[in-house]
Amino acid sequence: MRNIIVSVVALCLLMTGCNSRTPQYRIGVSQCLDDAWRQKMNYEMERELLLHPEMSLSRRIAYGSNELQCAQIDSFIKERVDLLIVSPNEAEQVQPAVTRAYRAGIPVIVADRRVPGDEWTAFIGGDNYKVGRLMAHWVMEKWKKRGTVSKPFVVLEVAGLPGSTPATLRHKGMMEGIEEAKEEGLAAKVEMQSVMGSWYKENAYEVVSEYLETHPLPDVIVAHNDLMAIGAAEAAGGVPIMGVDGIHPGLQAIVDGKIECSATYSSRGDMLIDAAAHILHKEPYVHDTVLETTLVDITAAYPMLKQDEAITRDLETLHIVQTQSESKWKQLRFDRFILILFVVLFFILFLITLSYIIVKQRKIQTKIKHDIIPQLENMQEAIQLSKKDEAFAERLRQVVDDYLTDPALNVEFLGGKLQLSRTQLFRRVKAVAGKGPLDYIRERRLIRADELLRTTDMTIQQVALELCFSSPGYFTKCYKEYFGHLPSVR
Ligand code: FRU
Repeated sequence: MRNIIVSVVALCLLMTGCNSRTPQYRIGVSQCLDDAWRQKMNYEMERELLLHPEMSLSRRIAYGSNELQCAQIDSFIKERVDLLIVSPNEAEQVQPAVTRAYRAGIPVIVADRRVPGDEWTAFIGGDNYKVGRLMAHWVMEKWKKRGTVSKPFVVLEVAGLPGSTPATLRHKGMMEGIEEAKEEGLAAKVEMQSVMGSWYKENAYEVVSEYLETHPLPDVIVAHNDLMAIGAAEAAGGVPIMGVDGIHPGLQAIVDGKIECSATYSSRGDMLIDAAAHILHKEPYVHDTVLETTLVDITAAYPMLKQDEAITRDLETLHIVQTQSESKWKQLRFDRFILILFVVLFFILFLITLSYIIVKQRKIQTKIKHDIIPQLENMQEAIQLSKKDEAFAERLRQVVDDYLTDPALNVEFLGGKLQLSRTQLFRRVKAVAGKGPLDYIRERRLIRADELLRTTDMTIQQVALELCFSSPGYFTKCYKEYFGHLPSVR
């Protein structure tokens, strides 16, 4: 019984689960952090995923910990995800886990921050070196505007996490840009100073405040992202600051006049999902995609901010619609499960009832065949027999009554009249009258005698003679035996 129940539920689940929306590929996403830039990336991925119902995402965030990120990647490997998207915290430290996944046969898309070597399937990320060059360009513009004075032009760099490729390449791009300018005799007195903000606004505020305790205000600040630029602006008000990313918090800070400009750094979660789809469907894909970057100043920031807000709103709406449609799907699947369960149970119940009826019918048929029909036949036979007996009894009585006064009436005479042998006569008379033929004849004679005695003036002698008794004494004896009193008593 338990097996039947389990099978029925499994069958229903199977039938419920069979729909075109069931994802067949599971993608693991390993994010190093969870700031605004990465949330945008996540939204973009989810939006693009709406076009790919065959894929599902499972996201894990390492909150800036290399160890946690490696452990999370390893757990994705254990779960045998179909594809991995990794945005590594620090390149060197996370590379071994990326390599493990790649060697385990899981396609790996490295997003935004590169890892050393080439044991990954595809890379999509911004041009961090070019971001650095844009920073150098902005610094030089500022330097030119100040004009050549004897004191050095101090540039304070607020760097990202040192082991991450964006921090390394942005620094490199900026330094090389300034070096080139120096060679051209432009940035002769540019002095570079650096503090480490590790990507966080709070860190940046702290390190810049500390720096200002021992240094005068720098001429400009370049922060490796907008969040750190905002933190720096809170610590060093009035200093022109450039950040990186060019999305909501940074754009708002530019519009509010807190920072001067930013460099765009695209997250393009949509491209990551699109690439994943190509790889999973064994279609051609681009191995190394480097995204463009451009400077955002006050003139570009406002329209970009509005556009960014509209996109965020759209993405949030999409998210709500998606959540609602997911819950509707769940409800629908549940309803379908209940319906199928009912249909299956109803069908089983129907089969049980049907087989019960069939078994019962067979039993009744057998009973009718073996018990009732023979009984009926017996009854019919009995009726036939009793009818025959009735007719015989009637005829017997008639024949006997016709010859009551005839002394020839005896067993042979009666057998002759009824065309029966002596034995047959005895058997049949016994059957209908309960006595032998002689006793029957005597009984009929006594009944007639009684009638005569009651209805005529005949004497006992005359009646005994009339009805062929051998003597009046014998008649009296037979009469007394039959009626219980003497014939003289009336
Ligand atoms: C967010 C972030 C961005 C930066 C990028 C570099 O985590 O710090 O602000 O541009 O990562 O990977």
